Amino acid sequence: MMASDSNIYKPIKASVERVIDESPMIKSLVLIPEHDFSFKTGEFIELTINGFGEAPFTPSSSPLEKKRLEVTVMKAGYVTEKIHALMPGEVVGIRGPFGRGYPVEKFYGKEVVILGGGCGFAPIRSLLYNLMAEKEKFRKVILCYGSKTPEDCIYKPFVNELRKVEGFEIYRSVDKADESWDEREGVVTVLLDDIRVNISNSVAIVCGPPVMMKFGTLKLLEMGYPETDIYLSMEKNMSCGLGKCGHCMMGKYYVCKDGPVFTYDEIKEQPGIWL
Ligand SMILES: Cc1cc2nc3c(=O)[nH]c(=O)nc-3n(C[C@H](O)[C@H](O)[C@H](O)COP(=O)(O)OP(=O)(O)OC[C@H]3O[C@@H](n4cnc5c(N)ncnc54)[C@H](O)[C@@H]3O)c2cc1C
Ligand code: FES
Repeated sequence: MMASDSNIYKPIKASVERVIDESPMIKSLVLIPEHDFSFKTGEFIELTINGFGEAPFTPSSSPLEKKRLEVTVMKAGYVTEKIHALMPGEVVGIRGPFGRGYPVEKFYGKEVVILGGGCGFAPIRSLLYNLMAEKEKFRKVILCYGSKTPEDCIYKPFVNELRKVEGFEIYRSVDKADESWDEREGVVTVLLDDIRVNISNSVAIVCGPPVMMKFGTLKLLEMGYPETDIYLSMEKNMSCGLGKCGHCMMGKYYVCKDGPVFTYDEIKEQPGIWL
């Protein structure tokens, strides 16, 4: 559903119901849109802060929920700083949903391996809600998630719930552990050494900071994943979100319209994919 039937640039209103501190740099906002809002997992929205501007975010909540929407935001600059200062009861704008999300139907019958880092857990959480709702359709789901330190690990209650779901395996690592941490230490790709997966019947999904996307993809290729079975959620600077302004161009693609989800095969020849 588009944000407005008459004007695609006009946001709908959404009130902030709750603000959740996920880590020192990351907050989630629970938003209540003025009317039902639908999206597919992996699609993105433009979130407007009145008088300051807008920025793209991938909803982190379940695509099955229409009455509330969650976004998880890392403080990066001007707009995200304003978002971090929002309080319950304040009103923001939402445009979208935009782009091409995860082709979940293509994952049916397969082992789904998800590699996530930092705030890249946001679209992945939405995807995981989707996979949980249809869990009998996948052979298994393996989440490998990495963050810098234990306190940077987001969605702790969600991860605890996920560990209880049959057919789901959860592995986490931190770059630098402390005495509170009893999981893996090292960059997130070390987790791929720990998993058992039938690559010939598997797809891999990668979402995180550019350097993690690059080395995650290289590791998956080394493991034997075909380029067509590696799905990447790309982030580029965006403005219109509609394939009009050209801000998000990556070679021949508009990331806002043709992506943000691409297979590695689709984008491997395009310039600057890891920037
Ligand atoms: C499709 C899509 C989905 C996204 N989903 C999320 C999400 O779920 N959660 C989240 O925290 N962030 C997400 N982002 C990134 C988020 O949009 C940017 O962090 C935000 O636009 C920064 O706005 P700002 O005004 O705070 O920063 P600015 O003041 O504009 O910039 C601060 C710094 O961040 C850089 N920057 C700005 N936008 C981006 C970008 N898109 N990618 C890389 N660097 C950027 C700038 O070049 C600058 O160096 C997503 C981006 C895209 C394109
Ligand atoms: S953001 Fe304007 S063309 Fe993609």
